[in-house]
Amino acid sequence: MRHAALEQARNRLALVLVLFFVPLWLALAYQVLPDDPVRFFLRAADQPVVLGANTVSQLSGGLHSLALIVGFMMFLAASRSAEFDHRMVLAGYPRICLLLARSVVLLLTAALTAGYATAWVCSFYQPARLDVMTAAFMVGALTYGGVGILLAAVLRSELAGMFAVIMVSFIDLTLQNPVANPSADSPLLKWLPAYGAMQSAVSAVDLTQTPWRHLLLGLCWSAGLTAAGLAAFTVRTSRRTLTQRLLGPRATKPCARLVALHLLHPVRAYIYRQARIRDTTVITGYEICRRLMRRSGPVEAALTKLLPARLRPLFWAMYGYGRYLDDISDTQRLGRQERVARVSGFSELLESDLRAGHSEDPLRAAFVHVVWTWDLPSGGVTALNALYRQDAKGQSTITTWDDWYTYWHTLTFPFGVRRLMTLLTAPGLAFTPDDAQALRGWTDALNLIDVLRDLREDAAEGFVKLPTAVLDEYDVRTEDLARGRAAGRYAEMVHAMTSHARQWLAQAATGGSQHPPMAVALRTVIDLHLLELDRIDRRPHALLQGRSRANPVRFHLTLARGRLRTASAWRRHTQTTATVPSPIHLPRPAEGDHGALSTPPLLPPKPHSSGAQPPQLPAHLIPQHVAIIMDGNGRWATHRGQPRTAGHEAGQLAVREVIYGALEIGLPHLSLYSLSSENWARPAAEIQAILRLAQDGLVMETEEVWRRDVRLRWSGLPEGLPPGLVHALRQTEHLTRHRTGLTVNMCINYGGHSEITQAARALARQVAAGTIQPDDITPRHLAGHLHQPDLPDVDLLIRTGGEQRTSNFMPWQSTYAELVFLDALWPDTDRTHLWQAIDTYTRRDRRFGATRSPLTNPDEHTARVH
Ligand code: IPE
Ligand code: IPE
Ligand code: MG
Repeated sequence: MRHAALEQARNRLALVLVLFFVPLWLALAYQVLPDDPVRFFLRAADQPVVLGANTVSQLSGGLHSLALIVGFMMFLAASRSAEFDHRMVLAGYPRICLLLARSVVLLLTAALTAGYATAWVCSFYQPARLDVMTAAFMVGALTYGGVGILLAAVLRSELAGMFAVIMVSFIDLTLQNPVANPSADSPLLKWLPAYGAMQSAVSAVDLTQTPWRHLLLGLCWSAGLTAAGLAAFTVRTSRRTLTQRLLGPRATKPCARLVALHLLHPVRAYIYRQARIRDTTVITGYEICRRLMRRSGPVEAALTKLLPARLRPLFWAMYGYGRYLDDISDTQRLGRQERVARVSGFSELLESDLRAGHSEDPLRAAFVHVVWTWDLPSGGVTALNALYRQDAKGQSTITTWDDWYTYWHTLTFPFGVRRLMTLLTAPGLAFTPDDAQALRGWTDALNLIDVLRDLREDAAEGFVKLPTAVLDEYDVRTEDLARGRAAGRYAEMVHAMTSHARQWLAQAATGGSQHPPMAVALRTVIDLHLLELDRIDRRPHALLQGRSRANPVRFHLTLARGRLRTASAWRRHTQTTATVPSPIHLPRPAEGDHGALSTPPLLPPKPHSSGAQPPQLPAHLIPQHVAIIMDGNGRWATHRGQPRTAGHEAGQLAVREVIYGALEIGLPHLSLYSLSSENWARPAAEIQAILRLAQDGLVMETEEVWRRDVRLRWSGLPEGLPPGLVHALRQTEHLTRHRTGLTVNMCINYGGHSEITQAARALARQVAAGTIQPDDITPRHLAGHLHQPDLPDVDLLIRTGGEQRTSNFMPWQSTYAELVFLDALWPDTDRTHLWQAIDTYTRRDRRFGATRSPLTNPDEHTARVH
């Protein structure tokens, strides 16, 4: 409520209008107009009354000014805070508080302005009923406050809102005024919104009775309009789409929803068709993202309109994902712990959905769809999630410009720009390194402008996303910004930042020559940014009072011109715009597949015999997936003069030991190579011993490992394995499927070549069936058919026994794994070896083909600002 009230108090134009315009009108109308008698049929008293023309016009004009001012105030407040409110709702803030705040502030504004206007009326004459006159003014103000709120729900532009309020109130109150309209007693006028207010105001001049019915009528109008406006607000801040809501719970059939989308939003239906998106959950997610973008990223939203239709959903989803996580990680009102929990919860679910290839949640479903369809780098998602987690914990700090670049490049570069370039590159349309540099300049400017836009909001949340060195240089403190105070050399700082942004934009404007459509799009976007920068430069303090947006008329004209030009540029290059690959079909979990092995309760891992504890490593450095080639059993036994099978038996103990170590250090996934497809070349007796040991280890009742929070997955082919073992593997997988601690991926009868071959066969079958085009196949499609499509790639591959080869083990998954070879034979290995290897891993520099890993400082930027 305080926020909503302050918002109104900061609307200086409205304050000036109320303070000066209302008395000016009341005085001029009363003094200048003649006081010729006018007949007014007062239905409130069921009789005509005769009043001076100046008195009647003063009242109708007074009501008109209140209607205009309060109507516009409410319109502005409701439309400007729509984005903020929506973000609050998405971040889990109760909608009812927001609705109450809006309603209470409307009441307060109406009461104050009505009291003020009545006080001025009293300075000209004494009405018979002061209370009735105040109530009449208040009802009039409330009615138009409701009109403002309702209009905010349907109109986007402030100009349109202002005109609508002016026109509605003009028609309404001019018709009610008998001086302007001789037939002001027509019964038709009863249906106009200000009728009750006007009747009551006139009755208060001379009559002593209370026009209850008419006051009530006015109240009903205002309640009805406000309720409609707030309902529209509720609908707009809902996480469901319009189509879903219209069809309600009856719309169980997805096809019905799609029909509704086609009927109600043919253009968007066309876009989804172009992008080959058919799943309703996914479409719902895209719609949420599109709205988030339209509300809070005016220039980003403009940019998507400059791209081919089929690419737009990609940008909606990427923006929506970032905005959503950014909102949660920034929402201080939630409390740090809850924020961290929400960000982590969302990121974990997203990462697991990304592996599975689908999601039940619309927002995540859209993002998973984008990553899979466009083959975006999942590693980028993990880095982003890590950064958002850091933000949520309040651990992000930006001290220097280097930190600033690192922070923003982690957020925008991996997905946005780099991927945009590959998607839009085609024969005849190439990006040069200069273009890449230009796009970088543009994203830097975009981010800096974003920071300026959110200056006060971020300050209120304690994290201004500017280098602290800059804030210090200009003596600007976050606390002052949070209170909306431009202390220190604030204006100078803002000018310095806008001139950085202009510099980057100028640099960006020089690129794009090799790629005509993108060059036009970029030019348009730069012009839009410059409009916003002009506005900021003219009124730097406006940043602290609310959002400082570019002049809407010029913004839309520039955008319209840009759209025409890009459309024709794209038309000339239709052959070369990116096509959308086919969707990937992954098996969904069966319905009713609930209920896990819940008894007996799960135990903690057994401690190491020496009491050794895992090293304290930061959670984000722990690998997601460690794979181990457990080699050396045979030699271990031979050295002791024992049969090779004894080595395998001893190796079984090491397996248990290493699983405990993995649980203790918090490793999420562990793949163990137990039997390779090449091991069938060994003597039958040895193979049989290995298989028997494997089967014994799967018995839930006797094998202690399964009493811990361990989930089993089996990778390998059933052919050649004893049916009892296959059954035991599948059963243990089933019984442990809801466990969330460590996933042990047991590789029995596993071979990397055969795994890839059978994935290729599956894809070939899809091609033959016509569900996918050969050219649409990406690495993700192939990975979707591996034994465990939802397991992350291997980060660390360990081989014991001193040999340095990978022996057909997870070749697809470990293309970028760090390799660690240990001399210890497998039966001599224990959890400390695993910890040691993980420790080594944390100190490796993983570059994934780039020159630096995604989270380290790009030093190429150091020179650019100083
Ligand atoms: C690995 O140990 C276990 C399996 C292959 C099942 P080996 O049996 O290969 O041991 P070495 O390499 O002969 O010592
Ligand atoms: C790899 O070990 C297979 C397992 C550990 C299960 P091998 O001992 O069979 O590997 P090579 O054949 O010597 O490379
Ligand atoms: Mg071996």
